[in-house]
Amino acid sequence: MTLNTNGIASDVASNVAGKRILITGGASGIGAASALLLASRGAKVVIGDLAEEMGAAVAKQGQDAGNSIVFKKVDVTSGDEVRALFDFAVETLGGLDVVINNAGIDHKPAPMHELSDDDFDRNIAVNLKGVWHCMRAAVTCMAPNGGGHVINVASIAGLRSAPLLTAYSAAKHGVMGLTKSAAHEYARVNIRFNAVCPSFIDTPMVRNTMANMNERVQQATIKASPMRRLGEVDEVSGAIAWLASDESSFMNGHAFTLDGGMLA
Ligand SMILES: NC(=O)c1ccc[n+]([C@@H]2O[C@H](COP(=O)([O-])OP(=O)(O)OC[C@H]3O[C@@H](n4cnc5c(N)ncnc54)[C@H](O)[C@@H]3O)[C@@H](O)[C@H]2O)c1
Repeated sequence: MTLNTNGIASDVASNVAGKRILITGGASGIGAASALLLASRGAKVVIGDLAEEMGAAVAKQGQDAGNSIVFKKVDVTSGDEVRALFDFAVETLGGLDVVINNAGIDHKPAPMHELSDDDFDRNIAVNLKGVWHCMRAAVTCMAPNGGGHVINVASIAGLRSAPLLTAYSAAKHGVMGLTKSAAHEYARVNIRFNAVCPSFIDTPMVRNTMANMNERVQQATIKASPMRRLGEVDEVSGAIAWLASDESSFMNGHAFTLDGGMLA
């Protein structure tokens, strides 16, 4: 067995060596784990994130392990900043094979009628319009260059109800609509669109959401999965790495659930 610099068995892992990959929200949680895993398997990675210090630290961690990974600040709510990020990525990597739209936020759990305008608008701006900004930029880069693969990190909240998280759920259902429709529209120019739909994964975002729940709701959240636990970031990043490889080549417009069986 061949081990790479991170101790991962590179001869059995999904092959992403040489893939040019842009990932948003790569400074923390699922995005950071995915960026580091992909880079450790030989992908060339650009991270875009609002969090400058954390993003630079993730890139340095990957570079210190001998991998190709750089950071650029972006706010995905700005179409202009997203375009600048994609220009930077194309210039740095020489093109883009895979784009992972992962940047996202939660909101304080609240009954739908008590949600503030700010919470609702911010969720749509980051979790839905931000993804659309990146999908649009990805098509512009990929269509003239033979195609590529766009992976949107949605949620099971984009497939089913998410009580007390209605703005988040509305945005993630919107991401599913974008993913499925774009998959149809752009198959002819060889651009695939798929979504990853995790349930609760142990990340700073979920720790923040759960801190705003009482003990009873916290326990109900954990026990909602038949596996009676939160998922780990590595359990999502491994699936993202497989999707980013050519092994997923006939998957298009799909919602890839990672939920311990919650939707079963
Ligand atoms: N953790 C879960 O349980 C879970 C479940 C389903 C889906 N998701 C989705 O996974 C993705 C990653 O979430 P996570 O749990 O790793 O959260 P996280 O908070 O650890 O990471 C999210 C990252 O997105 C960045 N970000 C936020 N707003 C941004 C903006 N406007 N522009 C650029 N970057 C921005 C943050 O700085 C952060 O680095 C999100 O889209 C989230 O909705 C998470």
